Amino acid sequence: MNNFTYCTPTRYLFGRGVEIETGKQISALGIIRALVVYGGGSAVKSGVLGRVLESLETASVKTVTLGGVQPNPLDDKVREGIALGREFGVDGIVAVGGGSVIDTAKAIAAGIPYDGDFWDFWAGKNVISKALPVGVVLTIPAAGSEGSGNSVITLREGMRKISLRTDYWLRPKVALMNPELTFTLPPYQTAAGIVDMMAHIMERYFTPTPEVEITDRVSEGVLMAIMEEGRKVMAHPDDYDARANIMWSGTLAHNGICGTGRVEDWTSHAMEHELSALYGVTHGAGLAVVFPAWLTFMARHSPAKPAQFARRVMKVDAAGSDMELALQGIARLKDFFRSLGMPVTLAELGVPDPDIPELVRRLHDNKGAVIGGYYRLEAPQTTEIYRLML
Ligand code: NZQ
Ligand code: ZN
Repeated sequence: MNNFTYCTPTRYLFGRGVEIETGKQISALGIIRALVVYGGGSAVKSGVLGRVLESLETASVKTVTLGGVQPNPLDDKVREGIALGREFGVDGIVAVGGGSVIDTAKAIAAGIPYDGDFWDFWAGKNVISKALPVGVVLTIPAAGSEGSGNSVITLREGMRKISLRTDYWLRPKVALMNPELTFTLPPYQTAAGIVDMMAHIMERYFTPTPEVEITDRVSEGVLMAIMEEGRKVMAHPDDYDARANIMWSGTLAHNGICGTGRVEDWTSHAMEHELSALYGVTHGAGLAVVFPAWLTFMARHSPAKPAQFARRVMKVDAAGSDMELALQGIARLKDFFRSLGMPVTLAELGVPDPDIPELVRRLHDNKGAVIGGYYRLEAPQTTEIYRLML
């Protein structure tokens, strides 16, 4: 096991009705003027935005709102939020939504106190050393941004989708998580969220670091629970306990606990980010196509961990080589994704004629000539993995 530092300063309030505590929690952070960020309208329609604004008003927190954040959020909305936040003199940000809204809120929080262009941080030209506090009211369990130190923004110019990872500055100070708010999710978004949270664990599970049994077992346990509860949620969208289990899984999948003590991989996410940047696909649906293809490549080239995954998580109980077991595990993983209604090929994802050379060029331009933690990959190998998605 490798040395590690693990810091999760987020306070979680979880359960029915917790969004009405937003005002108290935001006020307790010392925030007196908040920018409230939301998406394309689901938070207005469900009434959660209204309850959050009312709760802030009751706690004497002044507010200004910024709606219209789109999935796979763009830098334009961040810039709009920075300008609005500065004009109104805000000292904190409240995100009401999912990964796209939260990531936009985080970028605004980093951009307001910074003299230069916020994109400097995403472009790797500068490092965040200050940010306004961010509070989250989560409406979709998927990206895990409510507990992560990351923010994924796409620069419209060149459609560059970049994930910025910080240890501390971009972690929300408080996250309010009411599973009832997820009852209104369309099945496709619920399913894409389930895939995304599984991918967050698997990106950490497939590691070259030996002797990380505790982190492996935590990861395997959460993965198995997600599949079990995921089936229930798809069959019964208003099953509170299944929704609650899935919601908390999404946080555990991505708050760092499943990566402690080891090298992580993140190639599948990098490959998916190019798909969602170029073709606008839903992130989790893209991962349902990318992850099995990446794992198939690994079954052929480094099968020991994929075989362990097959035995322990996918319950493959057969004799055979590591590669044979791994391939059976992958077949079961694809079956699970299909059972959720997720695509497992690029054509099923709605990209029947992908420009693979362009995807590979962008991937290595953005992430470097050699990528991956479990297995190092260059352009010929990433080309092969994109082809496995056809
Ligand atoms: O915009 P509205 O109208 O709110 O609709 C949203 C959106 O269309 C809808 N939705 C959300 N909550 C709802 C709801 N519809 C009905 N009822 C509700 N309760 O769901 C759609 C998707 O929302 P979005 O925020 O885009 O989903 P998600 O949480 O999956 O976020 C995806 C983004 O997060 C990034 C992805 O790349 C993508 O840009 N990621 C962020 C990460 C992080 N910051 O740590 C890690 C992830 O790996 C991921 O890359
Ligand atoms: Zn993800």
